[in-house]
Amino acid sequence: MGILNKMQSKQKILLVGMVLIFFSACYYDKKDQVYPQVIVTTCDTTNVTYSTTVTGILNANCISCHGSSANSLGGGIVLNTYATLKPYVTNGNLVNSILQNGKVPSMPLNMPKIDDCSINKIVAWVNKGAINN
Ligand code: HEC
Repeated sequence: MGILNKMQSKQKILLVGMVLIFFSACYYDKKDQVYPQVIVTTCDTTNVTYSTTVTGILNANCISCHGSSANSLGGGIVLNTYATLKPYVTNGNLVNSILQNGKVPSMPLNMPKIDDCSINKIVAWVNKGAINN
């Protein structure tokens, strides 16, 4: 009887241990949900270029309408070359349009703003002199 009692208490300890492990695992899972990991998104605006950064953003969001003067969707405004884009940099309307600040028609037309990082990259390129790099 004494041995059996001892074994039972060992089993009890084992059981309690397993229960603790089980609940600590649950607690850990819950903690993950309550405090979700902060996803750090960085926006690198240090090495923005016309040839890669700016054309990449414009191709993805703007050139469907502004690819050629023959494309009536773009209101005759062509933004797929440096030379044709530059006047809208100089008069501020490229930045105004993507900031959707009400100074010129908001771009992309009838759509929400492009993502903040893309806006920041274009603004950074403009602020660095909008060179044809
Ligand atoms: C669905 C077609 C469409 C898309 C996509 C589009 N545009 Fe336009 N955009 C237009 C039209 C049409 C006009 C002329 C609007 C007007 O004058 O009322 C225009 C005008 C402009 C102008 C001239 C604003 C001015 O008054 O000087 C700029 C700059 C411009 N767009 C930039 C962009 C940029 C940058 C994007 C992408 C982020 C973009 N557009 C996407 C159709 C579009």
